[in-house]
Amino acid sequence: QSTAVSRITSQAVTPPRSVVGIGNKVAKPDYSEAKIVVAMVGLPARGKSYLSNKLMRYLKWLEYDVKVFNVGQLRRSRARQKAQQSGKKEDHTASYFSHANAEATKLRDQLAEDSLEMLIQWLKEGGNVGIHDATNSTRSRRAKIEQRVAKEKGIVVIFLESVCDDPAVIAANVALKVSSGDPDYKDMSRETAEKDFLRRIKEYEAVYETITEPSLSYLRIRNVGDQVTLCHIHGYLQSRIAFYLMNLHLKPRSIFFSRHGESQYNVEGKIGGDSPLSERGMRYARALPDLIKDNIGDAPLTVWTSTLQRTIQTAQFLPYNKLTWKSLDELDAGVCDGMTYEEIEQAYPEDFANRDEDKFNYRYRGRSFTLLLFLVVITHDLGGESYRDVVVRLEPVIMELERQENILIVGHQAILRCLYAYFHNLPQADLPYIKIPLHTVIKLTPKAYGCDEERYTLPIGAVDTHRPKPGAKSFDSSSIGNTAREYYGAN
Ligand code: F6P
Ligand code: PEP
Repeated sequence: QSTAVSRITSQAVTPPRSVVGIGNKVAKPDYSEAKIVVAMVGLPARGKSYLSNKLMRYLKWLEYDVKVFNVGQLRRSRARQKAQQSGKKEDHTASYFSHANAEATKLRDQLAEDSLEMLIQWLKEGGNVGIHDATNSTRSRRAKIEQRVAKEKGIVVIFLESVCDDPAVIAANVALKVSSGDPDYKDMSRETAEKDFLRRIKEYEAVYETITEPSLSYLRIRNVGDQVTLCHIHGYLQSRIAFYLMNLHLKPRSIFFSRHGESQYNVEGKIGGDSPLSERGMRYARALPDLIKDNIGDAPLTVWTSTLQRTIQTAQFLPYNKLTWKSLDELDAGVCDGMTYEEIEQAYPEDFANRDEDKFNYRYRGRSFTLLLFLVVITHDLGGESYRDVVVRLEPVIMELERQENILIVGHQAILRCLYAYFHNLPQADLPYIKIPLHTVIKLTPKAYGCDEERYTLPIGAVDTHRPKPGAKSFDSSSIGNTAREYYGAN
């Protein structure tokens, strides 16, 4: 991947204000000053909606408030209303998108403006990143957007242009549009739909102007994963967005998650620690290579583990390149490390209740230690994490996961919950209750909008370490539409 970087104004790249702890509950990061319009630019079928959705998923995982404002959707919903009133259906075939059609061009410009107004209003009401998902493919359209946003103090606009000249990717995007029940084409045969959509693209090509305006803040992505150009990108959030987009690629690949085999501590019901695998855990470690091989064949794969021995032991028979990540170590339970849930409830009843009440935000008490230095007593807390802390430390892992191809992560319950939530766009409140059972491989295959999932459970018994939220219906990831199956080997 080459990255052309021009005119980056590298102002202070400081993170948002730090997280403030309230007792053991950690407050949400203060993102109230982050207000950005991301205006998409590009021909139809160039992956604008794909990029919008990926960016939204990433930023939401980091707890920014993000919303996509799709101009096509607004056009269709307005057209439906008009049709109900007048009984006449608006024509949205290719000629509607022709620049020569003055009336339709006016209507489309108005829709883009209205959608931007809704977006700005939403930002003013507390949103952080509003994505304007439209073609915005002419200088005049972009100038209007720039001028409108400039009137709003504290809101900035960056343009995100998606250029794609890879015929295979364009063909796949066209096929997706006409075959996925897209409302523009739901009443047409596939053949007619495809013809019309290709004509629509031609209409846009006739007036398309790539971004060259020297004053604009923009990011241009060529063939996602090939080349990125940045111009006037500054500040913490804009840099994060740029860095994320620079790491994306579209190559087909799979991401496998497995918890370590059952550990000695799992059997004893203890959390944390660095215990070795149980006898059943070792059996899982021995069975894992065949399961992976049956899935991936001879394709290359890299295995990531944490620095804790239960993941390293689980990966020991896998014949692939391995990497240990400190960031993949299990959530640090602080003073509760090595205790059972019952022991924690007895020793720290208030903490236990607080965690049940708001598990994502609850930070375990750190291990206190006291130093006597020149007659001054210094007490310090060490360790102790919340799920939110774990999400923050996993951010570089997500970035690297986006860059890589086939990866198997042998990890831990809390860690895999956080990573899984990113790929399936699950809300923070559900995240700490996601079921990631032992002796099960979860295979994620990134698709246009989200991930397909398959689960393979090895018939090697293991304890259940999932503790549901008392009194609440626990989050069931089977609602995601995955397929779970027992795995007995390839034959
Ligand atoms: O019990 C296994 C384990 O990985 C512990 O080491 C860890 O503290 C726990 O799961 C995390 O799960 P929860 O957040 O549900 O307590
Ligand atoms: C659309 O109406 O589908 C659309 C993307 O609008 P525009 O090209 O006007 O931005």
